[in-house]
Parts: sequence; structure tokens; C-alpha cells
Amino acid sequence: MTVKETVEAIDDLKRRQDAVIVAHNYQPGPIQDIADFVGDSLAMARWAQKIPAKTLIIAGVYFMAETAAIACPDKEVLIPNPEAGCSLAESISPEELMAWKADHPDAVVVSYVNTSAAVKALSDYCCTSSNAVAVVNAIDPEREILFLPDFFLGSHVIRQTGRHNIQLWPGECHVHATIDPDQLHDKMRRFPDAELLIHPECGCTTKALAIPPDGIRAHVLSTDGMLVHARKADGRRFVVATEIGLLHRLQKENPDKEFIAAEAEARCPFMNMITLDHIYRALSDHIYRVEIDPDIRRRAWQAIDRMLAIG
Ligand code: 13P
Ligand code: SF4
Repeated sequence: MTVKETVEAIDDLKRRQDAVIVAHNYQPGPIQDIADFVGDSLAMARWAQKIPAKTLIIAGVYFMAETAAIACPDKEVLIPNPEAGCSLAESISPEELMAWKADHPDAVVVSYVNTSAAVKALSDYCCTSSNAVAVVNAIDPEREILFLPDFFLGSHVIRQTGRHNIQLWPGECHVHATIDPDQLHDKMRRFPDAELLIHPECGCTTKALAIPPDGIRAHVLSTDGMLVHARKADGRRFVVATEIGLLHRLQKENPDKEFIAAEAEARCPFMNMITLDHIYRALSDHIYRVEIDPDIRRRAWQAIDRMLAIG
């Protein structure tokens, strides 16, 4: 089939099966363009819950499909390619979290959404990059917090909340960790009028904020936060430190503004494992269904629901 024929076949199957495609902001452009919804991890789960569809096709990585299955137990959740994992989610196992908790029995566990369902089920709160600071601020300041698995997002939370009783797990996303602060500073020197948008998973966040190039306007934001900021900002040029899939939507929504990737090679291999052919096969063959053990689902949902109650 040609690309046009594949897109038409996907549309037809979606209509006949009462299915919708929910895509993450890092998905390749052609997939974002056919999706019914595109957003960050939090927005995907919220939209999936509200939409009255029978089947959700999650165009994103595995933990996002698991999160949708936890949030929407009455919907069929399919991931077009189950190999689409996440290096950050894989940086902590349930066994490692249980051992960490045993060393800190009174601590509150806050898990980033980039974790497996089994890790979420061992957590008190879930959070995403857009609400991690709000979630931590809602916890009794006297309680110790175990924050996992992203070390750099955790460092950002410590900076923003001023709390010093937060223990960090040393996990990282291999895509964001490689965005080099020196290259970032170089780009900012070449485009002195640009604003800098940095995802808190970036290993360069600490250094970029600690030694900002002269006159820099830096904003640490989730992917949806970057989209909102770019829409509202008076500035016309932005250096963007995150996975480059986001540039598709930034540019599409703001054709009169310029977006420059801090690192042109910052491409998530897992996000790019989903293709139009995979989506077509997911719909035609009803694969790959994401099933969560009911007890894990119940406990993981508690952590997600506590987060949603905070906002
Ligand atoms: P957002 O929650 O900002 O969409 O980020 C998810 C992610 O995987 C970042 O690498
Ligand atoms: Fe995971 Fe990093 Fe890919 Fe996000 S960019 S899905 S954190 S590997």
C-alpha cells in the first residue's frame, strides 16, 4: 500500500471499530498528523479517559499504553509495537524499588509516569514533568520523599521546592542525558535573541541554568508546557532542548516562529518504533493488547488518582 492508501485504510478501520489514536508529542510527524489527539504523558491519559471510544491505539511508548490501560479499564488498549520501551522506565525495577523502600520505611514514594505499572503500584504518588513540583509541594514538608527514576527531573524539583529531604534515584533518559550543555550554550550564543526551552529530563538543565549565557531567557517545561509557552510568547525564535519529534508540532502550530533543536540527533529510538504500518496492523489484527494484572492496576491507579487530584 502507498502511504496515502495506508492512511485511508487506518481511517476506515478506526471508524468501523470505534477506535481513536492517541499520540505523544515525540511521535514522528506523519503519525501526529493522523492522530485524534496529540499531547504530553499527562494529557494523553486525561484525554483517553474522557473520550467515549471502544479502543485506544496508543502511539507512544509502552509505559504510556500501560498508563492508559490503568486509567481506562473499560477500554481496549492497543500498542502498535510492544517493543517500544523507554530507557528511563527501565532504570528501576519493582525489586529495586522494594529494596529502596525497605531502607526508608517512612518515606513517601513519588514515581515519574515514565515507570512500569508494577513500579507505579509500589508508589504513593505518580507525577509527570508538568506537575512534579505541584505533587511534591502537596506532600507534608516533614516527610522524606523517594523520587524516581529521573535524577535530573528530581534535581529540578529540589531546586523549585527548596526541599532537602528528597532522595533521588540515579536514573536517566539516554536521549535527554546526551544533550550537551556546551553545544546548548553555543547555540544560544549564535541566536542571542532566542528563548531556551528545556525539558527537565535533560542532563544539561542544571549546568544550563547555573551558567546561563548572557541575557538568556530559559524555561524548564514539559512538552505541552513548551507548546503553550511558544504559542503565547512574543519572541519569534526558540532553542528547544528535548526530543526532536516535538519540533513538528511546535512548527506546525507556529508557522511564523523559528524552532532550533539544541541537539539535532536527539531522537528517541523507542518513539520511532511506531510506524503507520504498525498502526494499520494494530487495527486490522487487534494487536497488541495491553493487559494489567487487576491488583497492580488497582494500586497503580491509586498513585495516578492522587496525582490527578492535585492537578
Ligand atoms: P512529557 O511528559 O513532557 O510528554 O515527557 C515524556 C517523556 O517521555 C519525555 O522523554
Ligand atoms: Fe523514554 Fe527518553 Fe524516549 Fe522519553 S525520550 S520515551 S524518557 S527513552
